[in-house]
Amino acid sequence: MQNKRILLIVGGGIAAYKSLELVRRLKERGASVRAILTKGGAEFVTPLSFSVLTEEKAFADLFDLKDEAEIGHIRLSREADLIVVAPATADLLAKMAQGLADDLATAVLLATDKRVLAAPAMNVRMWQHPATRRNIATLRTDGIAFVGPDEGEMACGEYGLGRMAEPAAILDAIAGLLDTKTTGPLAGPLSGRRVLITSGPTHEPIDPVRYLANRSSGKQGHALARAASALGAEVTLVSGPVALPDPPGVRVVRVETAHEMLAATLAALPADIAICAAAVADWRAADEAPQKLKKEREGGEAKLLLAQNPDILATLAKPALKRPRLVIGFAAETENLIENASAKRRAKGADWIVANDVWPGTGAMGGDHTQIHLITGAGVEDWPPMSKDEMATRLLARAADALSSLRSAAE
Ligand code: C5P
Repeated sequence: MQNKRILLIVGGGIAAYKSLELVRRLKERGASVRAILTKGGAEFVTPLSFSVLTEEKAFADLFDLKDEAEIGHIRLSREADLIVVAPATADLLAKMAQGLADDLATAVLLATDKRVLAAPAMNVRMWQHPATRRNIATLRTDGIAFVGPDEGEMACGEYGLGRMAEPAAILDAIAGLLDTKTTGPLAGPLSGRRVLITSGPTHEPIDPVRYLANRSSGKQGHALARAASALGAEVTLVSGPVALPDPPGVRVVRVETAHEMLAATLAALPADIAICAAAVADWRAADEAPQKLKKEREGGEAKLLLAQNPDILATLAKPALKRPRLVIGFAAETENLIENASAKRRAKGADWIVANDVWPGTGAMGGDHTQIHLITGAGVEDWPPMSKDEMATRLLARAADALSSLRSAAE
C-alpha cells in the first residue's frame, strides 16, 4: 500500500468513528489519505480529527467554492488510486445508485473513473429494504465493490446485518482492489474467489434407453454461474443434461448421474462458495439393466427397485478440511415452504437455503422468473419476484458480502 493514495468519503453514520481507525492503519502502511465528509459525516466526527490523522485538509462542506477553485472535485478523484466510502449510509448509496451529485462527496463519486469500494453501515431493516437491495444491485452492476456489512449488535439496539465492516476487513478489501492482479476488467466483488455451482437435473439410467429425471431446466444454476463470473469469480459449473449454452468464461463439467455430479463436485474443490442449484434425483434404479427391459405381457405390472442417491449438498456442507466457507442450497417445495426449507437447512448443514415455491403455475420450474425466500442463520428474507438472472446477481452479491464478513469475524 506504500505510496497509494486513498480518497476516503465519510458518510453520516455512527460507524464514522471506525473510519478514523481505518485512516491510522492506512497511514501505518504507507498510504496517503484525503478525507471528504458529507454533511451527515461531519455531524458524527469532526473534519479536524480527519485532518489531524490524514495530515491533509479534510473537505467537509457542500461546494466550498474556495476549495473548488483550489483543487476541484475532478482533481480530488484524479489524484486518488482508490475511493473508499466508509461508512456508506443507505442514503449515500441511494444517491450513488441514482447518480445524484448535490454535494462534494457525491459529485466526486459521479465524476470519478477510479474504482470505488463501499463499506455499508445502516440499521438491519434499512439494509434489507427492497430499495436498498435494488440500489446495491445497481451499484454492483456499475462496478462498485463492497465490503461488509457485518452481522451483530447495532448502535440502535437491534441485531442483524448492517454493522460496518471492521477496519481490518476494509483494509484487506483495499489491498485486494489495489492488487494489480485483481484490477483487470473482470475485477469485482468476487475477484480471486472460487465459486462452485451445480445445475440442471440428473439422469439416472434404468436400462440403456430409459432414465429417471425431473423437470429442472438448469436456468437458475446457469444464471448463477453467469452472475458469479460477471462479479469476477473463477467459476466451475457442474451441470446435468440441459439444453442451455455454456456460460462464457466458466469451466463447465458435464455429468449425467448424481454419482458423477458428486465426483465432479468434490474434484472441483477447494471453493470459497458452493451453490447446489441442481435438482439431483433422490433415487436411482437399484440395478441398471444391461439390456433394454422387455415388456413381459400386455397390462402386466413391472416393479422398479430404487436406491438412494448421495446428497451432494449435505456432503459439501460437512465440516471438513475443504468445506467451502459458504454452502448454499435450494429448496423447491410445493407445500409448507418455509418450514420444510428451514428444516432442510439444518438437516443438510447448509449455511443458506434459497426456498422457492415450485407448485405448477408459479412458473419457477423451467421459467425465467422466480420468487424466493432466503433462509440464513439470522432468519428469513422474503425477496420480491424477479428474473432468475437478477436473483442470481443479488444472491452472489450477498454471498460476496458475507464472505468478507466471515473473513473479518475470523480475524
Ligand atoms: O431435493 P432436495 O429438496 O433435498 O434438495 C435440496 C437441496 O439439496 C438442493 O440444493 C439440491 O441441489 C441439493 N441436493 C443435492 N443432492 C441430492 C439431493 C439434493 O445436492 N441428492
